[in-house]
Amino acid sequence: MAGQVKSRQRVVDHGEVFTAEREVNAMLDLVKAETERIESRFLEPACGNGNFIAEVLRRKLVVVSSRYRRSPAEYQRYAFVAVSSVYGVDILEDNVEECRDRLFAIVEKDARSAIRGAVEQAFLDAVRYVLGKNILCGDALTLKDADGEPIRFAEWSMVTGDLVKRRDFLLSELLEGNVDKGQTLSLFGEKNNVISWEFDEETQAYLPSAVCEYPPVDYREVGRNG
Ligand SMILES: C[S@@+](CC[C@H](N)C(=O)[O-])C[C@H]1O[C@@H](n2cnc3c(N)ncnc32)[C@H](O)[C@@H]1O
Repeated sequence: MAGQVKSRQRVVDHGEVFTAEREVNAMLDLVKAETERIESRFLEPACGNGNFIAEVLRRKLVVVSSRYRRSPAEYQRYAFVAVSSVYGVDILEDNVEECRDRLFAIVEKDARSAIRGAVEQAFLDAVRYVLGKNILCGDALTLKDADGEPIRFAEWSMVTGDLVKRRDFLLSELLEGNVDKGQTLSLFGEKNNVISWEFDEETQAYLPSAVCEYPPVDYREVGRNG
């Protein structure tokens, strides 16, 4: 159990027992191909300090590095895609901070080893910014954040070249909408008269429409959209 428990009280209060590396890898190996697909999206609910998404990110960066380390511009663009595809929620703020710092350190270390002096500060700032949006403090049962508002996640999609488009979705709606093409949904593309459902070719699933869309920006300036 060494390293898997921070304190007895936290186990009692929050069931906080971290998963050992061996089990993390064994579970992720069940979906190995997805963990190595740079743009595949992973959410770790009750993420703690991010044992699963840290390993997913590490695996994705192995691929980014092997394919793109000869081109700093491409390496950074794909490393951004990798980090922007991992998501986490935890109820404890210190875990959230630890998780963000851990993921940031993984990216920074990999980038400095892959492209050395060519790492741009704007790239690192963009990674920090995205982690602030993707790793959130909230309750994975009520799907509300620390302020009692519905948890809202940003989807980041590269459109052309270095441009990234952000669309925000409510986690509650994403979880409800994540059914496959064969399942029945409202004929009129609406459910409860609130959500408009759209069929997403990439995920082959119905998704609710975004609660907010932003104009595409250079991924290194992604913080400009607030
Ligand atoms: C068993 S640990 C797992 C942590 C990590 N996923 C891992 O496998 O190492 C459970 C985590 O869930 C968090 N947690 C407990 N209740 C939660 C809730 N309602 N919503 C979100 N996180 C919660 C705890 O703070 C703790 O970090």
